[in-house]
Order: sequence, then C-alpha cells, then structure tokens
Amino acid sequence: MTRIVYVNGAYRPETEAKVSVFDRGFLFADAVYEVTAVIGGKLIDFPGHCARLRRSLGELGLPSPATDEEILAIHRELVSRNALDLGHVYLMVTRGEADRDFAFPKAETPPSFVLFTQARTAIETPEVGRGLRVASVPDLRWGRRDIKTVQLLYPSMAKMEAKRQGKDDAWFVENGEVTEGTSNNAYIVTQDGTIRTRALGHDILHGITRAAIMRVAGELELRIEEKPFTIAEAQGAREAFITSAGAFVTPVVEIDGAAVGDGRPGPIARRLRAAYLEAAIAQAI
Ligand code: PDD
Repeated sequence: MTRIVYVNGAYRPETEAKVSVFDRGFLFADAVYEVTAVIGGKLIDFPGHCARLRRSLGELGLPSPATDEEILAIHRELVSRNALDLGHVYLMVTRGEADRDFAFPKAETPPSFVLFTQARTAIETPEVGRGLRVASVPDLRWGRRDIKTVQLLYPSMAKMEAKRQGKDDAWFVENGEVTEGTSNNAYIVTQDGTIRTRALGHDILHGITRAAIMRVAGELELRIEEKPFTIAEAQGAREAFITSAGAFVTPVVEIDGAAVGDGRPGPIARRLRAAYLEAAIAQAI
C-alpha cells in the first residue's frame, strides 16, 4: 500500500514526497526524531514524546516546526489517512536546506519536518514470548545520547554485529557498565528482586517508556534503583529486559551466550509489560 506521508506542510503519497539533497539531515545528520507507538489507532505516551522532542530541539538550537497541538493533529491525520491500527508514527526535524557548510545556516532557514507511519501486525511477537538474546559491544557513540538525533550509524552497526553472532540485539558497554541497547533502555532484576537501570544523564536516551515503567513499577510496589550494572551482573541477574516505544517491555533471556535466570522470560518483566500496556492503552489519545 502506498502510504501518505507528511512533508513540510503537505500530505503526499510516499512516492511523491521529497526533501532536498542539500538537507542538513541528509548531509550532517543534523536532525532529531521521535517514534510514537500507535495501538488501536491511538497514540501511546504522546505528551512524553512531544516534551522530549522540545528538549532535543532546544539542546541543538533547532527551530521548532510546529506547536504541540499542530504536531498532535499531524500525527492523528496520518494515522487516519493510513488507517493505521497498530504500529508507530516516525517524526523527524532537520535544520533544513542550505549549501553544504559545517557552520549552521542562518536562523531563518526553515526546518524540514517529515512524519510517516509504519504498520506492524501484532503486539505480541515471537520475540516477546521467547525473550531476546543480546551481545555486548563497546559504546562508541557520541557523548550526548540524551538528545534523540538521527546519528544512528553506530547503533545500526551494533545491531548488525549482534545479528552476525546470531543474536537479536546489542547492549552497549562503557567503562565496564551497560549504558543501554541499540534502540532501547536496559534493565536487570537483581537476585533480591530489585529492578536496576542506569540513571539518566548524557550517556543514555531518556526513554519515554522508561519513565512510564518507573510509574507502573511504583504502582506494583516493585523496587527500582537507578544504578549501572556490568555484563557479569546482568548474566547473574534473576531477569533482564528492555523498554522502548517499539518493544514496550521485552524480556532478555541471554547475554553474551549466558542464560539469564532460567533462560526464559521472567515474571517481573511479564508483569511490567502487561501493566505498562494496560495503562498506556488506557491513556492513549
Ligand atoms: N528508540 N535508547 C535508545 C538509544 C533509543 O533509540 C530508544 C528508542 C530508547 C527508548 O526510548 P523510548 O522508550 O522513548 O522509545 C532508548 C526508538 C524506538 C527508535 O529509534 O526506533
């Protein structure tokens, strides 16, 4: 099916949507993005994604392409025009079109603003039932991973290295500790039942699903500590899991060839997933 995508104020068939070869998103990865899940035609955690977009734009001095209300309206229009029931909306803002120059173009340069939908067939994938196998790789990304930029080459390379090893995904390791996954936040459940994940800072993306999981875990009276962990600690944990707008909460059952717990998705990850989805769907807009 030919999708309808949004490009700089217009809704167009994907085959007719164009951005310039001089766009700074293309030439310099001078751009930020968001991914918002859609379930039952409704947007999951939209206010959080919009707030993080504002923060990313602000950190890079990128101009804002629209108000929050306009951004919501575009999301809804795309969901409706593409009859999207399950999937996500991808949003990207670049510093716009200008002759190639390392210096930013003049401030009046209009940003490029692109959104499109991507459908998925099921919430419960085989991976969720089986659990993910991850491989560790050194974290060679830049030092501002809290800004959601489109500089995704190294995460793509890490994903490919994981696949080369026959695994599902990679976890980044820096100074002996796990930062996060290629496109998700990483967690373990320690032997005393505490959920542990790295604290927010410049070294990880401030996941919107992570924030929601914190709330849900609180409601379930599960203990959470924001503290980094090593690969050895993860391998010796009771459970491990990841979160993202695409994966929601997905169990991790193997790390660098070692089974986590009994090698099957753990009860806390499964409870969190169910509780997160229930709350997120109830609050979807
Ligand atoms: N990725 N960490 C990284 C490096 C990410 O790229 C993502 C999201 C997350 C989780 O953030 P959130 O819960 O807000 O989705 C953590 C998106 C889904 C992507 O790139 O497709």
